Amino acid sequence: AGPCDIYSSGGTPCVAAHSTTRALYNAFTGSLYQIKRGSDNTTTNVAPLSAGGVANAGTQDKFCSGTTCLITIIYDQSGKGNHLTQAPPGGFKGPELNGYDNLASAIGAPVTLNGQKAYGVFISPGTGYRNNVGSGIARKDASEGMYAVFDGTHFNDGCCFDYGNAETNNLDTGNGHMEAIYYGTNSFWGSGAGSGPWIMADLENGLFSGYNVKNNAADPTINYRFVTATLKGQANNWAIRGANAASATSLSTYYTGQRPNASGYNPMSKEGAVLLGIGGDNSISGQGTFYEGVMTSGFPSDATENAVQANIAAAKYATTPLSTGSALTAGSSISLRATTPGYTTSSLTHAGASVSIAAVSSTSSSAAKLAASWTVRAGLADSACYSFEARDAPGSYLRHNAFVLYVNANDGSKLFHEDATFCTMAGLDGQGSSLRSYNYPTRFVRHYETVGYLGSNGGVHAFDAATSFNDDVSFVVGGAFA
Ligand code: AHR
Ligand code: AHR
Repeated sequence: AGPCDIYSSGGTPCVAAHSTTRALYNAFTGSLYQIKRGSDNTTTNVAPLSAGGVANAGTQDKFCSGTTCLITIIYDQSGKGNHLTQAPPGGFKGPELNGYDNLASAIGAPVTLNGQKAYGVFISPGTGYRNNVGSGIARKDASEGMYAVFDGTHFNDGCCFDYGNAETNNLDTGNGHMEAIYYGTNSFWGSGAGSGPWIMADLENGLFSGYNVKNNAADPTINYRFVTATLKGQANNWAIRGANAASATSLSTYYTGQRPNASGYNPMSKEGAVLLGIGGDNSISGQGTFYEGVMTSGFPSDATENAVQANIAAAKYATTPLSTGSALTAGSSISLRATTPGYTTSSLTHAGASVSIAAVSSTSSSAAKLAASWTVRAGLADSACYSFEARDAPGSYLRHNAFVLYVNANDGSKLFHEDATFCTMAGLDGQGSSLRSYNYPTRFVRHYETVGYLGSNGGVHAFDAATSFNDDVSFVVGGAFA
């Protein structure tokens, strides 16, 4: 059985079931998600390998070979039609055309389930999905439950990486108008024990970790690589539970009891839209990774949720390398030569903080040779990826800021580490390697008018131009010039 079969047996059927990694019903054979590729902007659907099975990652890998892909639709497997698509603007605008949010890269969150490759949904700040019709989703004070499986190592303190019930108009319509799982370290409203990340409830104008408005020490920091988070609510009662999604341990209850000690949350005023990766008013500062999740009609029992957790554990989520293509050797020094016709004698270099490509050769000055040489380090944010330390400025690394590349001193912050981490893959133009941003995997190290950027394939900035994209993001890795 799948998670939604278990919820059905418990009398609390799924009314939304989203996963890019697997079918959530034993009999489900339909499409799990839709992807769009950069080369020709066409789309295709990814279905399970077999009824109830793991996503057919091969469909994606083939369709996206030699180009970029975005996740355009996360289908609702429940039959209610609650598909998640690119979120529209609301109280906050997204970064895309007309204020829409970004779509997720199709390759930002590779995993295996029982040894079979699949891809999760890697949400960078600015990325969000929504369905404002929300057929069958709880309204007002009606009972509901939900769970999601997240990456417990991918989070931030922005508002708000959520999955669940929200407003139908993308605006903050008041306390109690949301009931969504929040995951991260935002402590502006609420917090739990330790420094987070915590599973909290986004009930609108507040992230709640229990009865108290601010801190509830019973809500622990939970940062397993794969985290199961559950939230459920019924008349003046709700609960937060969590577990290691990759281990056959049952869910622990972090809160169960009456609605928070604040006005506007009892009774609730749920509206019944569904969102992923954003706050109710389209706050877009959160980040996290979603693998699967559902929403139910009715308040699931603890026993039903425990059976779902056992099902998730049996799916055996495991990691798979974020870097593919030829490996780099930590500690070695390299050069990165451009492959765009007309620029093939240019290499990635820097002058102070500014990054560009420029012609460098064995006859260049020793300063020019050093400036175009980089020491490979294990990724500051993820050791499956890499960071590039400037040969002439020890302690300074290639990083992005507002999607422009710089060489800056490592300030030790989580954000710097993420901005300075890149995962490798075979060069998109068939030559060398492409360096994909760890925290914005839709974006790659790119030269545009010879300046260094973090470009996406056909985004809103001039440096996102689709023309010449594959060439501009492909670099031949060679020995260091100095
Ligand atoms: O409740 C926290 C956040 O507050 C909501 O997600 C958002 O709508 C509002 O800004
Ligand atoms: O480059 C994109 C973002 O811009 C970086 O993550 C951050 O440092 C800056 O806000």
